[in-house]
Amino acid sequence: MTMDRYVITGKQALSGAIRVSGAKNASLPLLTATLLAEGTSVLFDVPQLADVTHMIEVLEHLGCQARNQNEAVLIDAGSLREWVVDEELMRRMRASNLILGPILARHRRVKIAMPGGCAIGSRPMDQHLKGLKDLGVQVKEKHGYIEAWTDGLQGADIYLDVPSVGATENIMMAAVLAKGTTLVHNAAREPEIVDLQNFLNKMGAKVRGAGMDVLRIDGVESLHPAEHTVIPDRIEAGTHMIAGVMTQGDVLVENVIPEHLEPVIAKLRQAGANIEVYDDSIRVRQRGKIKGVDIKTLPYPGFPTDMQPQFMAMLAIAEGTSVITETIFENRFQHVDELRRLGAQIRVDGRTAVIRGVETLEGAFVEATDLRAGAALFLAALAAEEATVLEKVAHIDRGYENLEEKYRRLGARLRRVVPNNKEA
Ligand code: EPZ
Repeated sequence: MTMDRYVITGKQALSGAIRVSGAKNASLPLLTATLLAEGTSVLFDVPQLADVTHMIEVLEHLGCQARNQNEAVLIDAGSLREWVVDEELMRRMRASNLILGPILARHRRVKIAMPGGCAIGSRPMDQHLKGLKDLGVQVKEKHGYIEAWTDGLQGADIYLDVPSVGATENIMMAAVLAKGTTLVHNAAREPEIVDLQNFLNKMGAKVRGAGMDVLRIDGVESLHPAEHTVIPDRIEAGTHMIAGVMTQGDVLVENVIPEHLEPVIAKLRQAGANIEVYDDSIRVRQRGKIKGVDIKTLPYPGFPTDMQPQFMAMLAIAEGTSVITETIFENRFQHVDELRRLGAQIRVDGRTAVIRGVETLEGAFVEATDLRAGAALFLAALAAEEATVLEKVAHIDRGYENLEEKYRRLGARLRRVVPNNKEA
């Protein structure tokens, strides 16, 4: 983890156009889905992010050939030679657990170090394992490893206790090569699940119902490589919209699928933000302060937990009081202490945070604790008086491509400083 930091001078109204990159949380399962077929799949618009680089390293560790060609990532999964992902790889890339489904479908045996928790929560995998067991997989968990094997995947009726995104994706990628039909009830409905369904079907799979709460997968004999363009990143888009609101700027967010942002647009409008929605872009022209609103994070199509920290930064300078309830992760208020250092008035009680809006935030030394907490502090710094030093921006690099370049083009005054104090 590099110790780069940002120095940001706030109170600069941002204006101009900013283009959203491909979705991190669609790219990661799409990359592991390439394991399902011999030959070379091509993914366009995969963002150049630390998490994506790490996932490609995991695929290469398994024996894939990966290469970049212009704007595309090519993955040749023809000659897999490894089925074990150790702690070191797992620690760097917890989403490596998304290889379980495809490797079991392709090779019937897999072993991964338990991914362990992260800053925002314990991140259990019980729903992943429950679904895989229903499909005829045997699982042994010991010495911090999950070992799974099967004599052959059988279609099943699976009921998820929680609509887990990762569990839904692992089950989909196993069931596509199972014998018979699989139904997944209470499946996650995120747009990234729909994107995975579309890619799997291009590979010859028979998946229907993504985006609804029952998924149907009719198993097939084998899959072939395919080409696919990753959907735009709705969380990156939402983050840029909030930047426009907080700096009272005029920001055109391009390469957007507006329907993926409906809960975010609705909440912003309820707060009094001026949002103009076009076919594949959204314009934020903010004049005047926004009002406090209450938020409760829920599985899609509810308000996304990945936008909660960024919204909290915005509500910290709203008129009035707001209440945020985080129902998805048990520890996703790490950004509160850092926002307080910038002058925010926030009180936390369990999974609820009460935010009393203040006139303005004041620059300070703060640090990113996780990806979206880092994004929230980045936004707060853009709106704060004077300068803010934001440490540990490597957390932000995991989920936002070319952030400094994109924001400089909007007129933001920021620079990236590497530890030996040379400017990046
Ligand atoms: C995905 O994580 C995203 N990551 C997360 O984005 C996102 O916050 C999350 O979905 C929810 O939308 C990727 O797609 C790579 P879950 P995932 O399984 O799949 C509980 C970001 O900032 N649960 O839907 O791990 C779990 O504890 C990241 O980009 C179980 O109980 O999320 C949590 O409370 C952060 N058992 C809830 O479900 C399980 O087996 C949602 O988790 C799995 C999950």
